[in-house]
Amino acid sequence: MSQAFSIRVQQSGAEYSCAPDDTVLRAGLRAGIGLSYECNVGSCGSCKFEVVEGEVRSLWEEAPGLNPRDRQRGRLLACQCVPVSDCVIKPMIIDDHFIPTDTPRRFTSELVAIRDLTHDIREFVFTDSQPAGFRPGQYALLHLPGVNGPRAYSMSNIRNPEGRWEFIIRKVPNGAGTAALFELKVGDRIDIDGPYGLAYLRTEVKRTVVCIGGGSGLAPMLSIARGMVADPSMDGVKLKFFYGARGPRDLCGEDELKALPGFGDRIEFFPALSDPDLAKAGSWTGLLGFIHEQVKAHIPADQLMECEFYTCGPPVMINAVMQMLGGELKVPPDRIHYDSFV
Ligand code: FES
Repeated sequence: MSQAFSIRVQQSGAEYSCAPDDTVLRAGLRAGIGLSYECNVGSCGSCKFEVVEGEVRSLWEEAPGLNPRDRQRGRLLACQCVPVSDCVIKPMIIDDHFIPTDTPRRFTSELVAIRDLTHDIREFVFTDSQPAGFRPGQYALLHLPGVNGPRAYSMSNIRNPEGRWEFIIRKVPNGAGTAALFELKVGDRIDIDGPYGLAYLRTEVKRTVVCIGGGSGLAPMLSIARGMVADPSMDGVKLKFFYGARGPRDLCGEDELKALPGFGDRIEFFPALSDPDLAKAGSWTGLLGFIHEQVKAHIPADQLMECEFYTCGPPVMINAVMQMLGGELKVPPDRIHYDSFV
């Protein structure tokens, strides 16, 4: 195995070791350093840094997380750089709240079960020889055969001693990652690296939890619901679960929520369809409209201010949710949890 390089953080003087095939970001997080990040896949720009001494290699020069001004200033993305020498780095942001509570690790897992939830959403269950440690709502990076760079997907289950990592993933049209994933067969092995992400369930907060999801965003929302009912300290905390889809054949999640104690009482489910034609064709008699509108329609304005929000889904949905919660309703930002992948 090639020798690891030493990375020193200029501001704090903290030093850590980074293997030549590990990224500056992930090795830092593994070492317990609070390097800023969100997506881990080059999109959000949260992990910008500068190299003060030494040399790194970028795995994705055109990553959208950097704008032309960043490039001019010589800024790089820590999630997309591997070291080629010992380095001194200057991250844009370091904060203790980025320090992982479960140390991320890369391991080889086996796919042990596949289940179709809809025509294009599938559950994948991987196992590892070690206990699975992560917080409800976090994600992992999947290294898929023939795909350049890992892909981030959220777990749908909760920490467990059996080493089960479960994912619910919607197949993206023309998406290389999901195309490779949907080709996998039971018994196949892939590398998983995780956990990562900051949009995890805050068990210390006892406000009503509101989950807002769409598409593959079902997975972390389900994990949060499962995490709530599994945690005795959250007994009595209510959950309102909103899930949006285009047509009836795109809806899922109800069976999984129904399996939780308190469904229909402590846990309320609000599925909604956004395409009126598909809804009509499928004889849908439930809620119609975009999912963020359902949140406003079903929770009185004064109660909205007393909720803790978690959201995950397609970028257009996240934008609408953020505009409504943060912009229009002025919900304090520390009560809205999501990991940006754009
Ligand atoms: Fe590196 Fe998002 S964490 S670009």
